[in-house]
Amino acid sequence: MAFIKESNVNILDIFREKDLVKICAPMVRYSKLQFRNLVKLYNCDLNFTPMILADSFCQSEKARTNEFTTNFVDTPLVIQFAANTVHEFVGAAHLASPYCNGVDLNCGCPQRWAREQELGCEMLKNPQLVYDMVRQCRNRISKPFTVSVKIRILNEDNKTVELCKQLEKCDVSFLTLHGRTSTQIVGEVNRDALKAVSENCDIPIIANGGVTNLNECFELKDYTGCKGIMVANGILTNPTLFTGSSITTLDCVQNWLNICYNSTLTQENYEKETNNPTNLIKEKPYNLSFQVFHHHLVFMLEKVLPRRKRQIFNSLKTFSSVLQFLEDYFTIRPHLFEPGVFLKYANFNLDYTKRESVYQDLKPIIEDFKESFQVYNADNRDGKYFCSKITSDNNDSCDWSNLFIENG
Ligand SMILES: Cc1cc2nc3c(=O)[nH]c(=O)nc-3n(C[C@H](O)[C@H](O)[C@H](O)COP(=O)(O)O)c2cc1C
Repeated sequence: MAFIKESNVNILDIFREKDLVKICAPMVRYSKLQFRNLVKLYNCDLNFTPMILADSFCQSEKARTNEFTTNFVDTPLVIQFAANTVHEFVGAAHLASPYCNGVDLNCGCPQRWAREQELGCEMLKNPQLVYDMVRQCRNRISKPFTVSVKIRILNEDNKTVELCKQLEKCDVSFLTLHGRTSTQIVGEVNRDALKAVSENCDIPIIANGGVTNLNECFELKDYTGCKGIMVANGILTNPTLFTGSSITTLDCVQNWLNICYNSTLTQENYEKETNNPTNLIKEKPYNLSFQVFHHHLVFMLEKVLPRRKRQIFNSLKTFSSVLQFLEDYFTIRPHLFEPGVFLKYANFNLDYTKRESVYQDLKPIIEDFKESFQVYNADNRDGKYFCSKITSDNNDSCDWSNLFIENG
């Protein structure tokens, strides 16, 4: 299906209009299309894609197809890139710009592999480069498209404030601050650092870290003065968090099933399904990995299922066994959308063909000889984050170290 962009949403208008902007964090493997569609049903105002490596995105059609899908309801959307050159960041942003409302530069990832490649939080050692990347992106893609940066706080609050003020000067649209330093994977969030930044910057600041329910969103907003609150772990466990519900509701699980099934059907297959006299949905959703489908359910049901049932559910290995479990335990099963709704959730055919010139034009000649060019390789392994979650009883100490290794 050809891409039809919904209204030209201006993310900055959302910050102007809402008292508190509720945001689903970029999460490798997990903040993919179906999950973004789900949280949007539960008061999420803004979604981020998982971090995408800008060099692969620019160089490989396969990477683009695997790493980014979208549909009509997937807006407002920010695509997050990891990049350390102007041409890769601006090139990737330009390629993606018709299909999103803004791009974000990841300057917070503390993983070793990222640091070794001078990506993520390593970027903060070279602020001039970050400024160049943002400025050139800003110059190439006109507003209301946003260009934002996500960082972790530095060891000293005044240095964090200084950095954010500098980023503001190069026309960053908004900033996300994870209130932990790059050596601090878990633990207390430095709310005073977030507050100091929000008091000293005029652009919207998004506070992130440690929020597990809607009350805490409001508390963090009131304490820091930040305009937006971004949540990662909390929203995985409870996608209805922004509605005020304390655990995943059953209709949320039902919606997850419906979205997974419908958003992965082609028009042709949808018609086949509707014309099927028994109207039975096939046991396996088209074009959706079992991992993504199951892992999300495991997170969502973490606080819903009793321990024994949870262990059984977590060890399921097929679509049919998951569906059977849900039918037996909750009497729910996926439903086909009505035709009008189906169209809104159908995947767009993304066409990048006429948009590669910016990357090519900006690419320095020397790049042609770059020995480090890596052929894109889609990640098929089990999620380390998932494994850490199901083997740990302590929800608050989720360790996502090494997670990004899988995305390389
Ligand atoms: C599974 C998982 C994947 C993540 N992937 C990304 C990512 O792609 N980009 C990014 O900037 N941060 C990523 N993060 C960090 C989160 O966006 C967020 O900054 C961090 O988890 C703190 O928020 P929380 O306390 O609400 O979880 C990830 C976190 C988790 C748990």
